[in-house]
Amino acid sequence: MSTLVIVGTQWGDEGKGKITDYLAEKAEVVVRYQGGNNAGHTVEKGGVQYKLHLIPSGILYPDKTCIIGNGVVIDPASLIEEMENLKGHGIGVNNLKISDRAHVVFPYHIRQDELEEAAKGEDDLGTTKKGIGPCYMDKAERTGIRICDLLKPEVLKEKLKKNVEKKNTLFRNVYGVEGFNFDEIYEKYLGYAEKIKPFVTDTTVLLYDLIKEGKKVLFEGAQGTLLDLDLGTYPYVTASHPIAGGVTVGTGIGPTMIDEVIGVVKAYTTRVGKGPFPTELRDEIGNFLREKGHEYGTTTGRPRRCGWLDTVILRYSVRVSGITHFALTKLDTLTGLKKIKICIGYKFKREVITDFPAGIEDLAGCEPVYEEFDGWEEDIKQVKKFEQLPYNAQRYVRRIEELIGIKAAIISVGPEREQTILLREF
Ligand code: GDP
Ligand code: IMO
Ligand code: MG
Repeated sequence: MSTLVIVGTQWGDEGKGKITDYLAEKAEVVVRYQGGNNAGHTVEKGGVQYKLHLIPSGILYPDKTCIIGNGVVIDPASLIEEMENLKGHGIGVNNLKISDRAHVVFPYHIRQDELEEAAKGEDDLGTTKKGIGPCYMDKAERTGIRICDLLKPEVLKEKLKKNVEKKNTLFRNVYGVEGFNFDEIYEKYLGYAEKIKPFVTDTTVLLYDLIKEGKKVLFEGAQGTLLDLDLGTYPYVTASHPIAGGVTVGTGIGPTMIDEVIGVVKAYTTRVGKGPFPTELRDEIGNFLREKGHEYGTTTGRPRRCGWLDTVILRYSVRVSGITHFALTKLDTLTGLKKIKICIGYKFKREVITDFPAGIEDLAGCEPVYEEFDGWEEDIKQVKKFEQLPYNAQRYVRRIEELIGIKAAIISVGPEREQTILLREF
């Protein structure tokens, strides 16, 4: 490995944080390329649980350079809180580098997110309400404020003034609520700027040089393929590009600098937020997966919707991100189920389709076609070798490989670093 992208293949929460932390041992640099503190990556080390939102999951090692790329949107209050939390656990953040081109989340983005969701009523998207969508909206509108602006008080003053005025007009005239006080935000953000200034740099130069020096680099995706703004289940998506292609625009390196892409596949499917979900289980098996897998959002605490593994989705993810192999997570959660199902296609208008449809109306009309497997009873949380897995668990993995056309490289059987079966070297 020299550069490896770690990408979520489903609707997020596949265990990207755990896999990034595991692989980071052999890497020198870990980079986030999109999203913001809507992401929640849980990493467990030595019995302690770390919930990371903006800081790359390589931070638990003292010697890894961790980069927040230009494609990320940064809420400085959340970032500073995360830095303080880590420091409180004795984890240094001196190796953190923050892009001067990343966009900044302001309180009016969070308010806008809340107001727009409320105004949609029943049709809300179920966002994390962290202001992520509105911040990317301003970026696309060319009115966003970037980290490089934040560090220049006069530039910040001018841009922020215009933005606060514009947002206040929107809040008053469209939503009938009071707006924000410019001075308060300005003072607060000048304080944040002082705190994050030592970490800010042109990360595009830094990263290019590190790759040219032959350093091993991991790109840690947030969210998942089906939450991608272009290729996900639009409009029930996030506002950035979690797919592997997001790395190039989100970090400023070219596609020829990406060597491999590992897809993180949860052994079943989950989703938070709204939108169609063909293999969703609204029964006792769904509840079993939620409770056994602790499927509650890291960022919002919401219960995650749970269902069977869907290889229509996985094949789609393999295709749109050029995934070379996969990491299967949470196989241990399936232990104890008598029967396990894998979706291999969708019944749609009396035909069976195997390509993921574009429209959510079509997706809502898709009925999963399943293959059924016998489960296993043995506890697999301490298994270290593939051959030691129960025969039915081995069969399950091998069948996934056949159905999606790529090989498993890692099997995760628990949240800790040690609870990992490695099938190839990195
Ligand atoms: P991410 O957003 O993709 O990083 O995933 P999350 O951290 O939101 O959710 C995955 C959860 O599953 C976290 O609580 C992890 O600690 C946990 N986890 C990761 N891999 C495994 C595994 O193989 N088995 C079990 N039981 N838990 C895991
Ligand atoms: P990680 O990195 C799961 C979902 C939200 C909502 C939609 C849009 O932990 O996998 P947003 O706040 O981004 O505008 O919400 O995207 N969502 C996630 N779901 N895991 C995440 O991150 C998510 N980040 C956003 O629930 O449906
Ligand atoms: Mg998560």
